[in-house]
Amino acid sequence: MEVLEKVKNQIRDFVEVCHYPKALDLLEKLATGKMLRSKLILKIAKESDESIKLCAVVEMIHAASLLHDDVIDEADTRRGKPSINALYDNKTSIMFGDILYSRAFTELSQMDKKVAYHVSNAVTELSIGEMMDVDLTESFNSSYDKYLTMIYKKTASLIEASARSAAIIAGLDSEKYASYGKNLGLAFQMVDDILDITQSSQTLGKPAMLDFKEGKVTIPYLYLYERVEDKEYLKSLYKKELNQKELDYLKEKLNSTNALSDAIKEAKNIGLEAINSIKYEKNSEDLINIMKAMIERDF
Ligand code: FPP
Ligand code: MG
Repeated sequence: MEVLEKVKNQIRDFVEVCHYPKALDLLEKLATGKMLRSKLILKIAKESDESIKLCAVVEMIHAASLLHDDVIDEADTRRGKPSINALYDNKTSIMFGDILYSRAFTELSQMDKKVAYHVSNAVTELSIGEMMDVDLTESFNSSYDKYLTMIYKKTASLIEASARSAAIIAGLDSEKYASYGKNLGLAFQMVDDILDITQSSQTLGKPAMLDFKEGKVTIPYLYLYERVEDKEYLKSLYKKELNQKELDYLKEKLNSTNALSDAIKEAKNIGLEAINSIKYEKNSEDLINIMKAMIERDF
């Protein structure tokens, strides 16, 4: 059996313990993602009962956070499929998130103490990151530092904890892998923020150029704000339903000021930093490939 299938079966077994058929039904309805965190854990720690359990725990935490995030963001699609809040309602999405989250924590409490510490701590970071993300949409944020702190907490912290934990169970140098994971996570979120601008809604499985309308000043817009002459005009488009002319203006400026291409360069630089932390480790080739695939992905 393919190893990611084993992770999915482990998640199912963990949810089955609840003896509540609806929970299993809801699990079936979740769209499976790229399972980046599992791929990372399995490349670092190799396949074992312990590493598969770790993957399941991390995927369940991640899924729980998205179930809550889709309620917070009022999103009706997730990975191109209707979200649980759209298919059912907000209550169901929150309650199912709570089930996944708490089942993951019960399993985590039986794992290596350091792994339990780092993963649970990352969930606090994740939650603070989500709150920061929401708070930053209140008014136009032009601080790159705030953006970086927010994406570190919201996205990179759990990827960092996954890589660190995999290294801990495999007896490897956990600091190096943690640093790889952190930078992979930062680059991942930046690529996500770039794809919001460059990809079609069909590829994304959600409306394109949605971030700015939703109040998210992501890295390409931060660079644009620094470089554009008419800053007030740019701000006047913030959080607005844009017409074609305004969308064309944004796209044209994102290109002509190199805000978009420099954002891509920055994501690549952070990717290189990730690679530098593990380049002398024995499984570095696989991790370099994960990074390359992540940077070059189109959704
Ligand atoms: C997606 O961001 C959201 C996250 C990566 C983290 C969400 C975290 C929480 C809701 C707190 C943690 C809660 C639990 C129960 C573990 P996004 O909205 O930018 O991305 P999207 O486009 O994929 O929705
Ligand atoms: Mg969201």
